[in-house]
Amino acid sequence: MDKIVIKGGKKLKGEVTISGAKNAVLPIMAAALLAEGTSRIEGIPSLQDVGTMVKLLRVLGAKVNLFDHAVEINAGNGLKSIAPYHLVSTMRASVCVLGPLLARLGRAEVSLPGGCVIGSRPIDLHLKGLASLGAEITIEHGYVKARAKKGLHRADIYLGGSYGSSVLATANVMMAAVLARGTTYIENAACEPELVDLADFLNKMGARINGHGSHLIQIEGVDKLMGTHHSIIPDRIEAGTFMVAGAMIRGSDVTVRNCNPEHNHALLDKLKQAGVAVTKTADSVRIRRNGLLKPVEVTTLPYPGFPTDLQAQIMALATVTPGISVITEKIYPDRFIHVSELNRMGSKVFLEGSSAIVHGVKHLSGAPVMASDLRASAALILAGLAAEGKTEVHRVYHLDRGYERIEEKLSALGASIGREKED
Ligand code: EPZ
Repeated sequence: MDKIVIKGGKKLKGEVTISGAKNAVLPIMAAALLAEGTSRIEGIPSLQDVGTMVKLLRVLGAKVNLFDHAVEINAGNGLKSIAPYHLVSTMRASVCVLGPLLARLGRAEVSLPGGCVIGSRPIDLHLKGLASLGAEITIEHGYVKARAKKGLHRADIYLGGSYGSSVLATANVMMAAVLARGTTYIENAACEPELVDLADFLNKMGARINGHGSHLIQIEGVDKLMGTHHSIIPDRIEAGTFMVAGAMIRGSDVTVRNCNPEHNHALLDKLKQAGVAVTKTADSVRIRRNGLLKPVEVTTLPYPGFPTDLQAQIMALATVTPGISVITEKIYPDRFIHVSELNRMGSKVFLEGSSAIVHGVKHLSGAPVMASDLRASAALILAGLAAEGKTEVHRVYHLDRGYERIEEKLSALGASIGREKED
């Protein structure tokens, strides 16, 4: 196992290039199961989770060839319908094969994803949507068993849950509906850019989807889809993480390249409120931190609101911001595992229900800390960049699931950071 070691206090200067979006490539690779023929997907990030999806697609009988930041997937004949526990339990996004298998084969058996440290993450909306399309669904022995002997049919589906829309439920239902008879409407659909990228990919394969990116998606079913060629959008969460990194230390000047500033509006608005200088072009954002920061109030919401996947990172910034910042988590009310580790570094964060009250401190002090999930580990690295002395972030396998070579990218910006084997 590796750990990441950081000596804090170094100003960050220069440019960083963002990789393809993890949360776009995973459902898009699953969607390739819907097509006859080969799909080639470019600009994919080199991540643990992409490796897991490759394994899963191969177990399902697809031919998968990996290239440098590209993958070719051919889901010809002989597809299997069982997505096994040993793979699905390691990556929740595996549930995305449920819709495509059901639509393509008329049956699917997908292991239930199981628990997650960021909160209870049920899949009731996925199952509700697929049942509306005519699937018979049972849960047996820890597996979702779905059957549509006569194929799937159109439906009007309201996909709103207790925390608003669901990204992967929208993805699963949309992928199933593209081969259903008739025209389906998904109301209260999620609007995330990753879903728009998925719908664009499906339309290139011959699907007829409209309204993606809005809360009402219309899907006119077709008989079959063909392989296609597609490039993945940049990762807005990785981009946001580096934008916050550029704001952590006074005197820093970081340009984030190959990103879409439109996708980070909510974060950029908060950084400007905090007093950070932001300059945008069509595909880059320059972050300059000159003066003292000002406290902010942040509430996480479905897109285009402030993303929950940047909550821990903006909290890391708030820990070194004079005054009191308030961060409210509306998507995963318990997503605060990083708080105790940040407080080990000398921050003053207090939890009140689903809000964190952050009293800014002058300095954080470097310490050994434990990563608990992907975004929490990114926040600990950001805190380590600003802390006095040495920080060791343990269990960085969480990080490798969603960030490509983060320590190399930060080191190229002037950070004193490296990866070492655990003692
Ligand atoms: C996606 O997960 C992302 N994962 C998550 O990113 C992200 O945190 C989340 O969307 C919210 O933005 C991928 O895209 C692979 P949801 P997803 O369904 O689709 C509740 C990361 O760090 N809900 O939109 O699983 C759910 O419990 C990961 O990259 C139901 O109640 O999230 C949550 O409170 C972590 N029933 C809320 O909705 C359901 O059937 C939003 O979850 C589905 C969800």
